[in-house]
Amino acid sequence: MHWPLRRSTLVLLLAGAAGIAGCIAPAAAADAPAGGEPWWRHAVIYEIYPRSFQDANGDGTGDLAGITQRLDYLEQLGVDAIWIAPIYPSPQVDFGYDISDYRGIDPQYGSFADFDRLLGEARRRHIRVILDMVLNHTSDQHPWFIDAAHSRESPHHEFYVWSAGKLDPAGQHHPPNNWVSLFGGPAWEFVPAVSEYYYHRFYRQQPDLNWRNPEVERAMFADMRFWLDRGVAGFRLDAVTELFEDAQLRDAPVLGGVNAQGDPILSDLYTKNLPEVHQVMRRLRAMIDTYPDERVLIGETYLEKTADLDAWYGGARRDELQLPMDTLVGLGNRLDAVTFRRHLLESQTQLHGAQPLVVFDNHDNIRSWDRYGDGVHDAQIARIIAALLLTTRATALVYQGQEIGQRTATPRRVEDVRDPLGVRGWPRDKGRDGERTPMQWDASNPQAGFSSNPHTWLPVTADYRSVNVASESADPASLLNWYRRLIALRRNDAAVRAGGMVMLDERNPAVLSYARVSGTGATVIVSLNMSARTQKVSLGLAQAGLRGSQLRTLLSSPDSVAADAASNPLILPPYAAWVGQLR
Ligand code: GLC
Repeated sequence: MHWPLRRSTLVLLLAGAAGIAGCIAPAAAADAPAGGEPWWRHAVIYEIYPRSFQDANGDGTGDLAGITQRLDYLEQLGVDAIWIAPIYPSPQVDFGYDISDYRGIDPQYGSFADFDRLLGEARRRHIRVILDMVLNHTSDQHPWFIDAAHSRESPHHEFYVWSAGKLDPAGQHHPPNNWVSLFGGPAWEFVPAVSEYYYHRFYRQQPDLNWRNPEVERAMFADMRFWLDRGVAGFRLDAVTELFEDAQLRDAPVLGGVNAQGDPILSDLYTKNLPEVHQVMRRLRAMIDTYPDERVLIGETYLEKTADLDAWYGGARRDELQLPMDTLVGLGNRLDAVTFRRHLLESQTQLHGAQPLVVFDNHDNIRSWDRYGDGVHDAQIARIIAALLLTTRATALVYQGQEIGQRTATPRRVEDVRDPLGVRGWPRDKGRDGERTPMQWDASNPQAGFSSNPHTWLPVTADYRSVNVASESADPASLLNWYRRLIALRRNDAAVRAGGMVMLDERNPAVLSYARVSGTGATVIVSLNMSARTQKVSLGLAQAGLRGSQLRTLLSSPDSVAADAASNPLILPPYAAWVGQLR
């Protein structure tokens, strides 16, 4: 695991259950659905890592035209929005997260014509486009930084975080403090031309912007407006917890031990989640709220505790991000009913009723298939994860390939590694290539339909012959069709889409059960057996205040549980997932 992930749980709110039909409104004036809720509230958002989604021009790397080609697939899957990882001009040191021009498109991904076509075609299919926005740092090739590093008098010098550091008696320069980069090595880089160090939380080619300088905010907000004016539905804010660092540059407390990059483990007290960031978030929210159609701000918010997310919504005021990511629920490793239940309850009680956004997979972490799988029941476990992701009250994030059960394909030899994190960290940290391999579309060629070019930027995983969109589409029992059915249920069933959440059978150590209850009282029950043993589940419906005693199966995995399960108590085979109506 590459990120400071914490194992946790999720929970949903006893939301005020606005029952909403699965109304998919025409996109532009779009979807304030019938109940008046914003479109993102119960959305399925699909993350696209553009290098690896679809290569249309045959150069071995994915592109915008490739995404456009695959929109029909996304429409059929039922996604409401796509979030595309950075497509701006970039030296690609961190594969686009080092941006050298915030108002352009990297030629390897296409042109503005390709982008506008993608927006238009997505809109026709009621799919919104969300861009990634990197506010914490630029590329060292961004004109601002080139200017800033040239002279202390440069107009952009104060756009970055500089320090003269310390000079020892022998006249040697030393960094101002002990901070280390999250990507390995010291966080400070000396620039002889200005005789100062600049701070970089990530690679040295990613200098941190100085958010204490109001000019930075003005410039970055203007760059964001550029894309909002063009029609994007919002932004996923990269590394947004890192915007500010301690003004006095104090040494970080040393926690002991060494991390995967070989650096001392430090507290991030002075480098992460500083309170100043919230003023910026409030102004950012006010800015995007001047646009019509409910533009959305999603935060990459890896935090310690569920309660820490509350501030990112703006607490009771709700005037910051609409969807800071809850990484605590989904980015753990252990399929454990007790932990999931606890997290669900925490998000139910600790977030002023805000809407959670749950994430199990992304381009930075080992895929959930491999994190939760036990090597024996992986396929069933993947279905449990899907059910959990899509039947709680949370907005759901699906990462490309998750829906077909793509595995993490970690490189075996250091010479094959593309992610600099893996090159530097080998063998303790093998980098993030494993979760970024090309999307597996079909078995038409050895590139799994991703590209016509045999030299894809990362290798296609060998299992593509069976794990691919085409073969899973044809198999009613596939993981892909399980995702499709769950997403369709979520769109069409008022209780699953927007109902409140009631935990059931709360002491059960092996089975996680909850009910979703719509405004009219329609009730759907979800029961997930997270153990390798058959479990008899007494749901305790009456104790939970639910009316009805008849159960009718809506979805079950494996299919064979349907008959047995539609009784109370439920009989659930090992790793079964069951969703049914209560009447
Ligand atoms: C975010 C991105 C990650 C990137 C880092 C630095 O965590 O998801 O891929 O390397 O920020 O921009």
